[in-house]
Amino acid sequence: MRLPFTLILALLAFDSVFATSAKRNYSAYDYYVLEHNPIAGASLADCTRALGVEVIEQVGELRNHWFVRAAKALEPLDKRRVDPIMQTLEEIQARAHSAHSARSTDASHAKRIASAVKYLEPQTLRQRVKRAPPPPVSDSGFPTIAEVTQKMQITDPEFPRQWHLVNEKHPKNMMNVTGLWEMRVTGKGVIAALVDDGLDYTSEDLAPNFYAYGSHDFNDHTDLPTPMLYNDHHGTRCAGQIAAAKNDVCGVGIAYESKVAGLRILSGPIADVDEAAALNYDFQNTSIYSCSWGPPDNGRAMEGPNYLIKKAMVNGIQHGRGGKGSIFVFASGNGGRTDDQCNFDGYTNSIFSVTVAAVDHTGLHPDYSEACAANMVVAYSSGGGNAITTTDRGVNKCVHTHGGTSAAAPNVAGVFALLLQVRPDLSWRDVQHLCVKTALKINPEDPDWETTASGNLFSYKYGYGVVDAYKLIEAGRDWQLVKPQTFVELPAVQVNNGSMDVFQKASGGLPIVSGGVTSTTTVTQAQLDNNNFEKLEHITVKVWITHTRRGDVEVELISPNGVRSILGARRYGDDATTGYPGWRFMTVKHWDENPLGTWTIRVSDQAKEDQSGVFLGWAMTLWGSVNDVSKPVKVYDVPQVDTVLAPGSTEHTYPSTIIPIPTATSTKQHTKPTDHLPDDHDQSQGDASKPAFPGSGGNPAGDAAASASSTPTPDEGWFADLSNLVGNPLWFIIAFGAVVAFAISAGVYFWRRRVRMRQHYTTLPAGDDVAMSSIGGGGGAAGGQRTRELYDAFGEVSDDEEMDEDTRLHARGPSPGVNLHAGFLDDDPSTAGVTPAPYRDEPDASSERVHEQGHVHDRSDSPGSGSGDGSWEHASETR
Ligand SMILES: *[C@@H]1O[C@H](CO)[C@@H](O)[C@H](O)[C@H]1NC(C)=O
Ligand SMILES: *[C@@H]1O[C@H](CO)[C@@H](O)[C@H](O)[C@H]1NC(C)=O
Ligand SMILES: *[C@@H]1O[C@H](CO)[C@@H](O)[C@H](O)[C@H]1NC(C)=O
Ligand SMILES: *[C@@H]1O[C@H](CO)[C@@H](O)[C@H](O)[C@H]1NC(C)=O
Repeated sequence: MRLPFTLILALLAFDSVFATSAKRNYSAYDYYVLEHNPIAGASLADCTRALGVEVIEQVGELRNHWFVRAAKALEPLDKRRVDPIMQTLEEIQARAHSAHSARSTDASHAKRIASAVKYLEPQTLRQRVKRAPPPPVSDSGFPTIAEVTQKMQITDPEFPRQWHLVNEKHPKNMMNVTGLWEMRVTGKGVIAALVDDGLDYTSEDLAPNFYAYGSHDFNDHTDLPTPMLYNDHHGTRCAGQIAAAKNDVCGVGIAYESKVAGLRILSGPIADVDEAAALNYDFQNTSIYSCSWGPPDNGRAMEGPNYLIKKAMVNGIQHGRGGKGSIFVFASGNGGRTDDQCNFDGYTNSIFSVTVAAVDHTGLHPDYSEACAANMVVAYSSGGGNAITTTDRGVNKCVHTHGGTSAAAPNVAGVFALLLQVRPDLSWRDVQHLCVKTALKINPEDPDWETTASGNLFSYKYGYGVVDAYKLIEAGRDWQLVKPQTFVELPAVQVNNGSMDVFQKASGGLPIVSGGVTSTTTVTQAQLDNNNFEKLEHITVKVWITHTRRGDVEVELISPNGVRSILGARRYGDDATTGYPGWRFMTVKHWDENPLGTWTIRVSDQAKEDQSGVFLGWAMTLWGSVNDVSKPVKVYDVPQVDTVLAPGSTEHTYPSTIIPIPTATSTKQHTKPTDHLPDDHDQSQGDASKPAFPGSGGNPAGDAAASASSTPTPDEGWFADLSNLVGNPLWFIIAFGAVVAFAISAGVYFWRRRVRMRQHYTTLPAGDDVAMSSIGGGGGAAGGQRTRELYDAFGEVSDDEEMDEDTRLHARGPSPGVNLHAGFLDDDPSTAGVTPAPYRDEPDASSERVHEQGHVHDRSDSPGSGSGDGSWEHASETR
């Protein structure tokens, strides 16, 4: 069997190959993601052979990232506390750096492997949390809306109850789309994906607009996102809000002629590898990823996407949609009643997502909706005695109780589908600009509104206001595209020589005295010029703070123009003792502000005698547009480790090869999420009369606090490394060698492909066997502390987890620790005959199980479950 010529071309061009994901068996295998550096001197095959793992597939759309596995070690990992594969890598790195054997072939082999394995991380399953539960049914109906139904010839029986489309009681409070429908703006040609718990594509309301090609089930590893669990209705409901067809079933979607895909990730624990693949799935055709989930909204969690998922999001905004960027829409979270804030969720406080909070049908702020400086807009959802009417899972089903920020986000995703129909050329940042510029200032008397330096109004509760589809799309029609993005990473400020190493060991810093501690840094014109920076958009601020009770700590940023962003306010329930080990906050409040001058950060707490902490330092990054479009664009790359505060540290200073082994793998239970949206969310009492963070802030001046000024250090990081490299004559020779070797091995590659082309998995094209041991991955055991527990908010498990457990894979290969598929890149015909379908996990039909609806299993002793994603952010949740 031969691959079509075009596919070979695609492989050769290092193009991403659209691959489906193989079934996993976490009880039989340990899984890892390996990032291979193809120019570092060892082929992928060499690396996998040395590590004793086999390649399964590429990680979603991430080039040179490979999903690999090894047969599980006999003893459970949590007993041994050492991961054999990670240990193998450490040994290789130790050999590579050992002075004694520097000349031996073993050492040089080890060196090549160590530098070619850029990153290796065990994959563990964890559960994402939906942001809408099955709430109690409320039956407050609305009178029919004769005009609209007549004009648009709407026969959908429940349309009259869709007040978010036409609101007769409170006419101003709706998404304002009907005028656009009259102009035939209906989302035609635009595809949105619901990253959720499935999508009932058999529903007559969704079938006409279902987009199967861009759909996938990452929980059960099948093509169609069929809802399987009894409570898998969330994704279907969200999809209905966007693209329910204009027919005689239920209601209509905001973009009722757009297409929707389903990416199923919430119906069971999921590893980063699959979440990353889902967020880039079919990302050339799919424009919008609607995400109504995240870390628990319990007022205690502080957690975000880890390295791989961040990389997928960055990959999405850089390469998705033909380079215009995928639009990620995230619900702000439903933890408002427990003082949760969207700045403690790394998805919603990402600059790459549009964060959407909720307002109710009367226009008030429902108490479940989370506030924070990263909120961009609000949209209509449940509260004040009403909820959202949308398609439900099942035959001709409709639901009137959908709500939470879960329902606010798809309303905005639907509006974006309308926008992209009119202006498909808008970049992900153009979409954000249009939100900032056109959102309506709802409840203008609300004290939470503050005037920003650019003269706009911003509120932690409403962001820049409520999305008005008509206004947004009208402004979009003649919107001039923004210039490319750039960023200025200001040098990290070490307060009183404060520092923190990869193991979160802190030294120096200033005690957080009563009244708080402040520190300043100054943005100069030279810094802006050096980075070709013109206009400010987002600001991210990383902080290093130790504290015996994290929830007491408040962090605010004050601009040179006196505009104050509360980055983190008090959280009464958060008693974590980990402080903020390099946590990154985000604010959109300084959009379009002139950043020149002195910025002040103020860290304070409630000054309880028995709880205390130390402010170690902070690092601010300005994100915005370039000044001169003719200059090369500075491309953001996700740092592997960015939690270290040390002299000279910037984002890119710590290339680490080894990510430390998770020290505590838990076998904890995780459940089908209930979530933190209160059951009575539709009855939520709205408000428009109090600031989001009433007790916060204060006068930054006049504090007893010591003021540590910025101690800028030269950027000796990644860019400096690169320029050293280019200046090295050896570099040229190596590069030339690489080209020659690539040509030769490409020839060999084609020849071998012609001999046998059986595998379906995607591999690297040949050409990575170039000796280049001089370019090393720095190495050492640097890396963030990867301990993390899974969400402890839930006490039960889902059927789906068992499904994952029971997913049977063909076990192949002799024993753990040896290379199971040595030389698979060689495509050796002789070995191919022995293993008919190598490297392809296939389900064993005999183990296919039928889900028992509503059944809850206890599997507290099952291996492979329960350990975290390895990011330190959630370490607090272990206690
Ligand atoms: C809603 O859309 C109409 C056009 O259909 C427009 O005139 C109006 O300004 C928009 N906004 C509001 C709040 O009504
Ligand atoms: C989606 O994209 C692929 C290429 O990435 C293309 O071949 C395919 O036709 C597209 N499908 C649709 C429906 O646009
Ligand atoms: C910080 O460290 C440097 C050198 O290690 C020392 O000279 C300086 O006095 C220290 N500063 C403070 C405030 O301790
Ligand atoms: C996973 O692999 C183990 C060991 O090979 C096997 O006993 C188990 O049945 C497999 N599970 C599934 C669902 O295939």
